[in-house]
Amino acid sequence: MKTVTLHNKKFEIFISDTEIASIVNSIANQINSSNIEAPLFIAVMNGSFLFAADLMRNITIPNTEISFIKLSSYIGTKTSGEVKQLIGINNNIVGRNVIILEDIVDTGITINNIINLLNKEKVNDIKIATLLFKPHAYKESHTIDYIGKSIANDFVLGYGLDYNELGRNLKNIYKLKN
Ligand code: IMP
Ligand code: MG
Repeated sequence: MKTVTLHNKKFEIFISDTEIASIVNSIANQINSSNIEAPLFIAVMNGSFLFAADLMRNITIPNTEISFIKLSSYIGTKTSGEVKQLIGINNNIVGRNVIILEDIVDTGITINNIINLLNKEKVNDIKIATLLFKPHAYKESHTIDYIGKSIANDFVLGYGLDYNELGRNLKNIYKLKN
């Protein structure tokens, strides 16, 4: 599909499923060839569920674990500026090497909030991997270690990303049509 209409808004194709697959592979290869030991991946739900699933299938590091955290900061197509933690982490994370998995880093409020939560638990190391990054919207100082693709400040959906909960099931990533 070249275009989709969700909640009466039109979106056009932006990143194809084949390009997504090669981006995800490239992130997995970079993580595999880093020197991280026994990583605990923490995927930020709901948006990163497909990215996390596809990435994990390509991670070959011994003693790899994955857990999930759920937060929300978006209402419609604009950030609400507030992040609520909805589901916490059950694993013992003290001293762990954590890699946060995000679908997209926009202002960085979400990632900042997660980093603060993890630092309270005395983790050893925190790395961030994101499929998409909006550098012109990013307001935080924490380095994003693994970036799939940097994009302009357009609203995107598909491959896990939603517009008011719709569009997560789409294979390609679409952007709002102007
Ligand atoms: P931040 O806290 O401003 O960095 O926003 C990060 C979160 O907002 C992501 O995990 C997404 O769930 C959501 N988000 C940011 N930009 C988009 C977008 O373009 N489409 C869909 N969701 C987005
Ligand atoms: Mg998200």
